[in-house]
Amino acid sequence: MKIPQNGQSKEDVLNTMRALRDNDADWKGGKTWSLVYYAGEDLLDLLQKAYTLFLSENGLNPMAFPSLQKFESEVVSMTAGLLGGGSETVGNMTSGGTDSILMAVKTARDRARARHPEITNPEMIVPLSAHGAFNKAAQYLDVKIIRIPLDADFRADLSAARAAINPNTILMVGSAPAYPQGVMDPIKELAALAQSNNIAFHVDSCLGGFLLPFVRKLGYPVPEFDLSVPGVTSLSVDVHKYGYAAKGASVILYRDKDFRKYQYTITTDWSGGIYASPTSAGTRPGGALAAAWAVMNYLGENGYLRLAEKIMNTTQTLIQGIRAIPDLQILGEPTMSVIAFASESLDIYAIGSVMDERGWHLDRLQYPTALHLMVTPAHTEVITIFLRDLAEATAMVRSGTSSPAQGTAAMYGMLAQMKEPGMAKEFIQELMDQLTRAQ
Ligand SMILES: Cc1ncc(COP(=O)(O)O)c(C=O)c1O
Repeated sequence: MKIPQNGQSKEDVLNTMRALRDNDADWKGGKTWSLVYYAGEDLLDLLQKAYTLFLSENGLNPMAFPSLQKFESEVVSMTAGLLGGGSETVGNMTSGGTDSILMAVKTARDRARARHPEITNPEMIVPLSAHGAFNKAAQYLDVKIIRIPLDADFRADLSAARAAINPNTILMVGSAPAYPQGVMDPIKELAALAQSNNIAFHVDSCLGGFLLPFVRKLGYPVPEFDLSVPGVTSLSVDVHKYGYAAKGASVILYRDKDFRKYQYTITTDWSGGIYASPTSAGTRPGGALAAAWAVMNYLGENGYLRLAEKIMNTTQTLIQGIRAIPDLQILGEPTMSVIAFASESLDIYAIGSVMDERGWHLDRLQYPTALHLMVTPAHTEVITIFLRDLAEATAMVRSGTSSPAQGTAAMYGMLAQMKEPGMAKEFIQELMDQLTRAQ
């Protein structure tokens, strides 16, 4: 495809785009259970306005745009305040959870390089449930990832963590909560273990950081997980998840400057001048920084608390509703609004397929096989109809009247049957080529 010879009118361009959007997942209608954190039209309007105001500004050079510098430092500081940070806590905004995790691993690696040059093959200990971004970081940064098993409640197994520590360990990780079952790792215990072995400890609170403090305020039990826990040296938290910011906004926090300095890249001998960059990005979109600042100031603690209450009420209804459907089980004890459910007697992916046919988008999990739900304020209105559809889908699979698994469910089924090592990877590579092909 070539760039068109003559441009079209603005209206034509926008109309084409609007029509394309009509085929996308219906997130405003609460049909998606991941990907979008929608908290209503009012908030969306604020995000659009704040983003557009700073659409062209570039956070690469804070001296040119002091406004963006203020947004970033205040977002970082407010986030640190929310998550147990003290006067020494420092951090930066990044483009998302994966980016923040990459920064945490790079920092731990480079700090270890400086302090322990004898470690030539660094390793990090990561629970099985921690996000796939840690595998990405391991691959990009050449740090070996040791995945440790979970206990029966889907929390990182402490004795496995202890046993995995060796002289090459530079970083240990816990999630608050982990994406798959929405369960919190034993952060306090893991951090103490890391500290007593002089190892950096990262809390991945990308998903929970903007919700757990409010869930706790509402009276739900939330174990300690943040920077106030001794031994925690860094923490990632996404403003673009339960902070409700526009996409492209996450925060990486460090215990103190002595950690964060290893995150920087500084090049003094480039003909383009001195190039110093705090995170992985060069150009940094001003809109994402501005919208994050806007939403935090607009909602305030009380706004976040109100939304948390709505989410938790919906989550409780959902959990009770799923427990009431024969053959379905909730996995573990979810701490907040992220739930996985499975079936010991029925094919849960087949149930997922029937839900797909009804327009719902549920992520698939493995080890064990399960379906996944992340509750947002958009779900309050649709919970009754969702539970009705789920009960019907389960009944159809039980009675054998559902059509064979299609789409993602079929793909997971096929992958499970691939016995040869590497085959599944090749299949996914091919799929990614197709999805990202030049049309
Ligand atoms: C626990 C956890 N960590 C990290 C990430 C990665 O975040 P992102 O998709 O913004 O890179 C996610 C995403 O869902 C997550 O749930």
